[in-house]
Amino acid sequence: MRARADVPDARVQFLEGTAECLTQLVPRADAVLFLNALHLVSDKPAVLAEIRRILPAGGRFAFNSTFFTGAYEGNTGGFYRRWVVRTMQSLKDRGIPVPKAHRADAMEWLTPEDYAALCAAAGLRVTTLELLRIELPLQCLTDICRFSLFIEGALPGVPLEEGSQALEVGLGRALDEMQYTTLPRNWLEVIAEAV
Ligand SMILES: C[S@@+](CC[C@H](N)C(=O)[O-])C[C@H]1O[C@@H](n2cnc3c(N)ncnc32)[C@H](O)[C@@H]1O
Repeated sequence: MRARADVPDARVQFLEGTAECLTQLVPRADAVLFLNALHLVSDKPAVLAEIRRILPAGGRFAFNSTFFTGAYEGNTGGFYRRWVVRTMQSLKDRGIPVPKAHRADAMEWLTPEDYAALCAAAGLRVTTLELLRIELPLQCLTDICRFSLFIEGALPGVPLEEGSQALEVGLGRALDEMQYTTLPRNWLEVIAEAV
C-alpha cells in the first residue's frame, strides 16, 4: 500500500472508506482532519453529522478546501473562465460532445459562511475561519487535469480520458494567452469544536 510505504510508523493505522460511513470505521476520535475533500461530498450535513458523532464534546474538527466561493484571488476568475472556454473548444475540435443536462452537485461551491452555518447546524462551533493566500505552482493545474473527480466535476458526462486531454490542452492555451507563471489562490481553513 502506497500510504503505508510513505508512513511506516506502526502507531499509524490506515482504514479505507468514505466520510459518509465514518462512524462504522472509527467509532471515537479526539480530532478529525478532512483535507481538501469536503467540497466533493454531496450530502455535507450527513457527513458533518457523522464527524460530530465520533467526537466528544470539546473534540476538534478541522478542514480546508481550495474549491469554494472566494478561492479565486483578485481578478484571476478570468483565467479560469478562459480555461473552460479553451477546453470546450478543444472538445469541439475533436468532435467530442458535452452533455448539457448534467449537473455536478458534488462540485457545487459554497461560501465560507455556508460552511460555517453547516458546521453550526451539526453541533460544530467554528473557532477559526481563515483565508490563506498562496501562489499556486502551475504544475498543480496540470496535475489536477488527471484527477478523475476534478474531470467529472468540470466536464460532467465527458469520458475521463478525453476530458483530461481537453482540460490539459485548454490549460496550455489559457496560460499562453494570459502569461501566468504562478497563480494566486485562497485556501479556506476552518477549525471547529464539538459542542
Ligand atoms: C483533492 S483530493 C485531496 C487529497 C488529500 N486529502 C490532500 O489534501 O492532499 C480529494 C480527496 O477526497 C477524497 N474523497 C472524495 N469524496 C470523499 C468522501 N465522500 N469521503 C472521503 N473522501 C472523499 C478523494 O478520493 C480524494 O482523495
